Amino acid sequence: MFGFIGKKIKNVERPIGKPRVLVFANQKGGVGKTTTAINLGCAITEKGYKVLIIDLDPQGNASTGLGINKESREFSSYDVLVDQMSIGKATVKTTVNDLYLVPSTLDLLGIEATLASDKNRSFKLKDAIQNMLLEATTTEDNYHYILIDCPPSLNLLTINALVASDAVMVPLQCEFFALEGLGQLLETVDHIRKTLNENLVIHGIVLTMFDERNNLSGQVEKDVREYMSDKVYKTVIPRNVRVSEAPSYGKPVLIYDHKCSGSKAYIKLASEVLSRDKNMKYNN
Ligand SMILES: Nc1ncnc2c1ncn2[C@@H]1O[C@H](COP(=O)(O)OP(=O)(O)OP(=O)(O)O)[C@@H](O)[C@H]1O
Ligand SMILES: [Mg+2]
Repeated sequence: MFGFIGKKIKNVERPIGKPRVLVFANQKGGVGKTTTAINLGCAITEKGYKVLIIDLDPQGNASTGLGINKESREFSSYDVLVDQMSIGKATVKTTVNDLYLVPSTLDLLGIEATLASDKNRSFKLKDAIQNMLLEATTTEDNYHYILIDCPPSLNLLTINALVASDAVMVPLQCEFFALEGLGQLLETVDHIRKTLNENLVIHGIVLTMFDERNNLSGQVEKDVREYMSDKVYKTVIPRNVRVSEAPSYGKPVLIYDHKCSGSKAYIKLASEVLSRDKNMKYNN
């Protein structure tokens, strides 16, 4: 139903049809999930694609980092998950062309309790995305990519994201305990594949905050590549102060400073993700 519609936007060969849904997950905090969702999302729009970021983290860092402050968040992903609000109604435009956002609010903190007795609780986001596709009347209503930013936990929010997604992207910070917890995350993905979402695949692992002056970063990269081989993207995101400054201006780093090393890396990562995506075997 959502196959080729025949519309070609800008330099994009892939028509707007069924969006590819990617989730950024790692139960470890501060590894670069949000930074990667925002900046990879922005870099993908620069290649001519239309992108929706869904902020599923009560911390709301993706929302703040895209300049949508708390006061202007009329609706949120909470309304989508709990009150069956349509994604379209909860979506806001960002200052970046072709980049849209479903913001989050602190209400999400209570989601486990709110949905505790709901048998369908793990499928809330998947159902909402499916409804969005059914309701789309023109190609303009759809996205090429939906990127979901998760909290640092394997809780109901992350499970909703994993169930709704085609593929998982795992940011790993280049630090001593980088691999710690990866096994548990991969087991969770495997469990979700066997139980709630048979189509889920690992898209790739992205090494973040790489510090070339620090030998440890190089050692961590070597270990991760040995353990996860070609699942690890070739592009490595360097530690770059411009990347960490950008969110306080409510901008992706690509808009804040397009020429810094962090922006260049995210642009390169976007090319790699798009080409890997074309060659990936999805089950759906
Ligand atoms: N490449 C980078 N260079 C410098 N600082 C970075 C880089 N990537 C991320 N940071 C900073 O590291 C911190 C953690 O990043 P981020 O918020 O993206 O991680 P997270 O995994 O989403 O965290 P949480 O688990 O709390 O949601 C932030 O302050 C961010 O600005
Ligand atoms: Mg985050």
